[in-house]
Parts: sequence; C-alpha cells; structure tokens
Amino acid sequence: MPFRRICLAGASVSTTGLSVGNVIVRKLLAEKPKGYFDDIVVLGRKESAASKVQVAKELEALGARYVNVDYDNVEELANALKGCDCVLSCVAVQDPKAIGEAELNLAKAAKLAGTVRRFFPSKYGGDDENRPLNDVGKRKKKVGDLLEELGISHTNIVTGIFLDIMYFPLLGFKNLGKDPTTGTDKGARGVVVGDGTGQVMGIAMEDIAKFVFEMLVDPDESKTANKTIRIIGDTWKAGEWVDIFKRVTGRPLEVTTYGNQKEAAKANAIFPLLLQRGDFYVDPKLWDNGKWPNVKCMSFEDWTRKTFKRDTGRANI
Ligand SMILES: NC(=O)c1ccc[n+]([C@@H]2O[C@H](COP(=O)([O-])OP(=O)(O)OC[C@H]3O[C@@H](n4cnc5c(N)ncnc54)[C@H](OP(=O)(O)O)[C@@H]3O)[C@@H](O)[C@H]2O)c1
Repeated sequence: MPFRRICLAGASVSTTGLSVGNVIVRKLLAEKPKGYFDDIVVLGRKESAASKVQVAKELEALGARYVNVDYDNVEELANALKGCDCVLSCVAVQDPKAIGEAELNLAKAAKLAGTVRRFFPSKYGGDDENRPLNDVGKRKKKVGDLLEELGISHTNIVTGIFLDIMYFPLLGFKNLGKDPTTGTDKGARGVVVGDGTGQVMGIAMEDIAKFVFEMLVDPDESKTANKTIRIIGDTWKAGEWVDIFKRVTGRPLEVTTYGNQKEAAKANAIFPLLLQRGDFYVDPKLWDNGKWPNVKCMSFEDWTRKTFKRDTGRANI
C-alpha cells in the first residue's frame, strides 16, 4: 500500500547549500496536488527555527506543514509524527549529534507515535553493507540496529556519491567558475589520485528524489520493506572528470596528481582519495534502479554540462 502521510526530518537547507531532504520534499510537494499524498510534515529543530523562517514559509506555501521540534524530547517528536505512515530522515551528517542522537530519538518517536509503517534512515551514501565502516557508517548503523530492535520496517538507500558535490572544493577543486563580473577564466584546478581508475558510482539528488517518490507511491511495499535499495545514476573512473571537464567547458585546467594514497592523505585530498580507493563503489549486480523504470538518471557528463552551463560566480565553483 502506498505511503500517504509523510514526515521528513531535516529538509531545510543547511549551510552547505545542499540538502537531500530539501530536494526530496520539493519533489513530494510537487506531486502532492496530483493526489498522491494527504499530508507532508517537515520537522526542523527549534534551535535553528529563526534562521529557517524563509524556507519554512516556502515549504508551507507549497503545501507542507512545518513543525519545529526538540529532538531531545521523544514524546514531543511522537506527537509531531502522529498520523504519519512514513518517516524520511535526512538529518545532517556533519553534526555528529544529528544521526548519533537526534535520529535515534526520531526512531523511538516513530515507534511511540504508533502510525509509522516505514522509516527511511539518513543513509544516502556508499554501500555500508559491502565496505569497511568509517565513523559515519558506524553512527548510521546504530540507527539501523535500533530500528531492527524496535521492529520498525525500514528502507536504507544507497546512492554512491551525490553528483551535486562532485565539483565542490571538498573534492579538491579550485577556481572552476568564471569570474562573475568579467567573465574571465579563473584558472581551474583539480586533483587526481594515483592512476585515476578507481570506479565511482553516484547519482544526482534530483534523481534520488524521483526514486524516493516512486518508492513511496509503489503499491508493492514489499519491494522496499526491510531492504537496502541501491540507486545509481552513473558510474565513472575517479580521474575521468579531467576529460569530461575539458570536453564540456573547453577550458584549460591544472591537475595535481598525487602518486599514491599516502601522498593524497598528506595533502588532505581526502575525497579524491576516497573516490580512487573505491569507497563509492556499488556492485552493479546489486543496483535496484530497474525496479522503478520510470526514473531516468542524469549522467556525470550531463551533470558537468548542467553545472558549467550556468557557469558564473556560484560560491562553490
Ligand atoms: N553520498 C553523498 O555524496 C552525500 C553527500 C552529502 C550528504 N549525504 C548524506 O545525506 C544525508 C543528509 O545529509 P545532508 O548533507 O543533506 O544534510 P544537511 O543539509 O547538512 O542537513 C540537513 C538538515 O539536518 C538538520 N540538522 C542539522 N543538525 C542537526 C541535529 N543536530 N539534529 C537534528 N537535525 C539536524 C538541519 O535541519 P533543521 O535546521 O531544519 O533542523 C539541516 O538542514 C546524510 O545521511 C549524509 O550522509 C550524502
């Protein structure tokens, strides 16, 4: 049976400027007028409410109910969840308290509310069931363990890396955009680790949102109940962005190559290292895209084209 009363936790835009929860809630709200959902509730922290007034108003105008909560108070959370049949947690990875504490209470509240049939924890990353767990993975696993213990049916979504962050400074890039006032090239720079042949899997956040929508409205709940769902938009080699960037923008590029993982770690090129190391590899035999064939995904090259078409002074490039 499709889910009709959805609660999203962590759907305001964070300081990173990207939030998968915000992209998902906008997709669900866009579909709501077609009759797919009866209620869409967005939970935001009381402590951040003052800085999120604008986004709360925008989401309310689109048809959401925006509720500010104290994640330390399980009863208050349960009241906010009452009536909801599905909880999508998209709380931040950056603040260890979000997944480490708030999301655990959200799971307890989902149980207490009594109406929640499904919980999607804040996963949206690499394939933690098939790679060594880092600290974030361990934190996320605790939430999964608690959901098991509470007997709440859950769906873990594995996405690989978000295409949306591929050209962020975090990935080792600098000066990718043109100067917004003069239109001149700023001298793009990027990083490759080793031979750049590490296999990477990823997907754009807007395609994640399309899949989540399909999962929620799918009449066959068993496709996602207590399952890990792997949705991948494209696969490419870690160093392939160099050719793609040149092909798409036609601009010069300075590439720093770190010969091995040790050098890369020393230079703090953490994400290029992770990509090369295969941390975002998701075995194609395990991909679940085919279960929702309506969703057509953007490729990494499409994403690059989209990013640099608007090629201006976006802060992160
Ligand atoms: N695969 C990838 O490449 C990739 C990239 C980025 C993120 N992710 C994953 O996507 C998920 C969401 O991450 P994100 O980057 O989209 O999140 P985010 O934008 O950093 O944060 C989402 C929201 O979480 C809420 N939040 C922040 N601190 C909190 C706390 N202590 N307790 C409760 N809520 C808190 C905030 O909402 P309010 O202020 O409204 O409460 C914030 O807007 C995570 O699981 C992350 O690992 C994956």
